Amino acid sequence: MQRINSYQEFLELKKILESRLTLMEKTISVCGGAACRALSGPKIAHLLREGIEKKGLKGKVEVKLTGCHGFCSSGPSIIIYPEEICYLQVKVEDVEEIIEETLLSGRIVERLTYEDPALGRIQKLKEIPFYKKQTRYILEYNSRIDPTSIEDYIAIGGYSALAKALFEMSPDGILEEIKKANLRGRGGGGFPAGQKWETTKNAKGEIKYVIVNAHEGEPGAYMDRAILEGNPHLVLEGLIIGAYAIGAKEGFIYLRHDSPSLKRNVEVALKRAKEYGFVGKNIMGSGFDFDVEIHLDIGIFVSGESSALMRSIEGRVPEPRPKYIRTSVSGIYERPSNLNNVETWANVPLIVAKGSEWYSAIGTEKSKGTKLISLSGKIKNAGVIEVPFGITLREIVYEIGGGTTNGRALKAVHLGSAMGGSIPKDLIDLPLDFDTLAEYGAPIGAGGLLVLDETDDMLEVVLYFLDFLSGESCGKCVPCREGIRQIKNLLNRIREGKGTKKDIETIKEICDAQRKASLCALGRTASYPLENALKYFWHEFESRLKREG
Ligand code: SF4
Ligand code: FES
Repeated sequence: MQRINSYQEFLELKKILESRLTLMEKTISVCGGAACRALSGPKIAHLLREGIEKKGLKGKVEVKLTGCHGFCSSGPSIIIYPEEICYLQVKVEDVEEIIEETLLSGRIVERLTYEDPALGRIQKLKEIPFYKKQTRYILEYNSRIDPTSIEDYIAIGGYSALAKALFEMSPDGILEEIKKANLRGRGGGGFPAGQKWETTKNAKGEIKYVIVNAHEGEPGAYMDRAILEGNPHLVLEGLIIGAYAIGAKEGFIYLRHDSPSLKRNVEVALKRAKEYGFVGKNIMGSGFDFDVEIHLDIGIFVSGESSALMRSIEGRVPEPRPKYIRTSVSGIYERPSNLNNVETWANVPLIVAKGSEWYSAIGTEKSKGTKLISLSGKIKNAGVIEVPFGITLREIVYEIGGGTTNGRALKAVHLGSAMGGSIPKDLIDLPLDFDTLAEYGAPIGAGGLLVLDETDDMLEVVLYFLDFLSGESCGKCVPCREGIRQIKNLLNRIREGKGTKKDIETIKEICDAQRKASLCALGRTASYPLENALKYFWHEFESRLKREG
């Protein structure tokens, strides 16, 4: 391993690593993401390696334990390259047959392939409806690389965007590309990333920071983890490019403390990036210095809020502060600090490598590019998907998700997790884009999509989210701390058949006060699921109200 000291050296290394890719006849990608790990993914990879060695296939077939392949409800998933044969729900007992049949005899083990109710058995990954309808740019390489191997990442084109940024573009030129691409923040707000970068860049002060918010804490949302655990260098590369454009010399990756595999992959990635000279002094001989530190959260949801997160990095109690002070201008130690979430940073190398024109051709007029969604709830194909903005909710639920489990009637899709809202089935043809869904009271948020069927009770759904939020409220402001508690009490009365129309009026008043007077997004948006449920599913609440006479 050598340190890269110039653009030329980088190009030479890239060439060598690319050529290594073609040395193997086959690569078997075994999913090592959280769901597949729990179902023996790593053991399957180990047994495959052992078997391959025993059968004299070493040097011809390589086994990679990778990040999440996306199709989590059908894991453990195995993909055999170059044919892209996909085996699902693989068990330890299947390993011998895979080696004998597929590797030695070139035959497909049909029973391990995907069975589509209409199309029958499907052997190839990209022909499976779950994958066919997706547009995978960010997740594309999750199944092709070992996330702990920087060489794998460079071989598939990694760090080329950074090299291009440092040697062929100016910081202002990069900022312009990001603005032209109209990259909007994927953490929930959808605020234009370029504009936010520019604010930090132009803010007073020599020392500036860039931060990856990897504190993904909403129930049912796990797409950031799929990116960062499966392809950590993609995010790191985006962060370094952002730092160069903004003029930051230090950066942080703010991680959840409770995911050892994620932490390990990020730590390994950072260590290797430092060894190769992509992080540290004089990056690739360009004269640009940038260092990154990993910071762990303290396990509370609100520490993912921008100002709370920055306090946490300073070593203080992670409490939000009023919004009139923008962290882009005055963040960590009151210095200009740019915070973007994992998915936002992951888009940056793609935009720099392929250009803003390429990027803005994907999606809708105001929502460009792709969006990662974690599909969960009463849906057949659950997991992490990547789709272009503009795709309809119907396409996501029925074509990618395969419809509801047990074929029950769809009731609604809930977007944006605890701070989102439900879209009833009659509106299922709405497109996935930031503005349309927000207009209907269900902002995309970070990208959790929960499918509800006819057996789901909206009051229970709302109470579930309120329980989560009341447990996570930091308690600093009354409308949030007391408001959520009071709403829960009133809803419980309604649930028991003791509530009245007056209680509904009181609930609406509290929601209004919370929205107007809470300090941070948790309190301001806590009422969203309830308000949307009252709007679209009023009959479910009304039917429980006590008759007043
Ligand atoms: S809105 Fe809630 S979570 Fe946010 S600062 Fe106030 S009490 Fe804390
Ligand atoms: S964890 Fe294996 S497919 Fe998602």
